Amino acid sequence: MAQAQKQRGRQQEQTREADQALLQSAIESNQQEQDENSYTVIDRLESNGIASNDIAKLKEAGFFTVEALAYTHRKELLAVKGISEQKAEKLVKEAMKYVQMGFTTASEVHLKRSQLVQIRTGSAALDRLLGGGIETGAITEVYGEFRTGKTQVCHNLAVMCQLPIDMGGAEGKCMWIDTEGTFRPERLLAIAQRFNLSGEHVLENVAVARAFNSEHMQALITRAGAMMSESRYAVLIVDCATSHFRTEYAGRGELAARQCALAKFLRTLAKLADEFGIAVVITNQVVASVDGGAGMFQADPKKPIGGNIMAHMTTTRLYLKKGKGETRICKVHHSPNLPESEATFAITNQGIDDAAE
Ligand SMILES: Nc1ncnc2c1ncn2[C@@H]1O[C@H](COP(=O)(O)OP(=O)(O)OP(=O)(O)O)[C@@H](O)[C@H]1O
Ligand SMILES: [Mg+2]
Repeated sequence: MAQAQKQRGRQQEQTREADQALLQSAIESNQQEQDENSYTVIDRLESNGIASNDIAKLKEAGFFTVEALAYTHRKELLAVKGISEQKAEKLVKEAMKYVQMGFTTASEVHLKRSQLVQIRTGSAALDRLLGGGIETGAITEVYGEFRTGKTQVCHNLAVMCQLPIDMGGAEGKCMWIDTEGTFRPERLLAIAQRFNLSGEHVLENVAVARAFNSEHMQALITRAGAMMSESRYAVLIVDCATSHFRTEYAGRGELAARQCALAKFLRTLAKLADEFGIAVVITNQVVASVDGGAGMFQADPKKPIGGNIMAHMTTTRLYLKKGKGETRICKVHHSPNLPESEATFAITNQGIDDAAE
């Protein structure tokens, strides 16, 4: 009896290992496909007569794909050491040959959107609210008070993005920028177990960096393009995106400088989402709304940090608040295609899940 049980256990273990090997090879082959389809590495421009030392300079400045060049304003290229006006012009001209920058039909956009991968969150109710899950190729902001589950949602995504597409994942790795020291691999292991994934592989597929200030954050995401052009990433998490900006530029007179630095940071994130088709997920805190009269009539007078810059540069904004016990409520606060509606989910030991009835 015990013998039969042991054998069954061994067989299950073998199936699990085989499944994991398949998934790992899917992530790797996905990476090759990615190289062929969605972006062009900048080295390709050597065949268009761009000198290899100029390409090295561009990489140093954070340009790793031809798309990055094509999407960049000439002014930013000129800011790269060693890139003259003449060179910038040639670079843009050559980059444009690879990238579709003009008009396209709505039906083509529709087709592309229908193929868009969405990453499930762990809760079916939350996925329904989001029309399938967290969108790739865009920035999603998750904001709310402390303990509302922002970091927990991120932990789930770091694991779920590694799942096969037909299981709600995106067959890619996760990059995590941790500004508050709240990243917990143990949480990833618990979630991996729920989805029957090898904990070891799941941890290997998450690249984590602790960011100590906002300049460090900017440096990390500037370098992120290098890693993304070498390996297939599906998600970039920044938890929390605003805390450093908020504390470093605390004075009233520094607001403009803060917004400017924040805008640069968000623009770099948006470019990564565009270039590599990854889901960028950032978390944000709230502050009490101080805009007098309007605040008094609001049921929940709290607003996310970052003002209009944050509001305009994120694609979808999700507001989390506490519900009863381990439940949390997610409200779509702003989205180009979702209604302003809400859903309830739960934080469990194995991650984000549906709330018990
Ligand atoms: N292993 C676990 N099992 C169940 N619940 C957990 C577990 N770990 C953490 N939680 C719950 O998750 C909540 C904290 O969520 P999270 O850390 O995501 O908050 P947050 O919104 O990121 O807060 P902050 O603004 O402080 O970063 C707590 O209520 C905690 O009880
Ligand atoms: Mg947190």
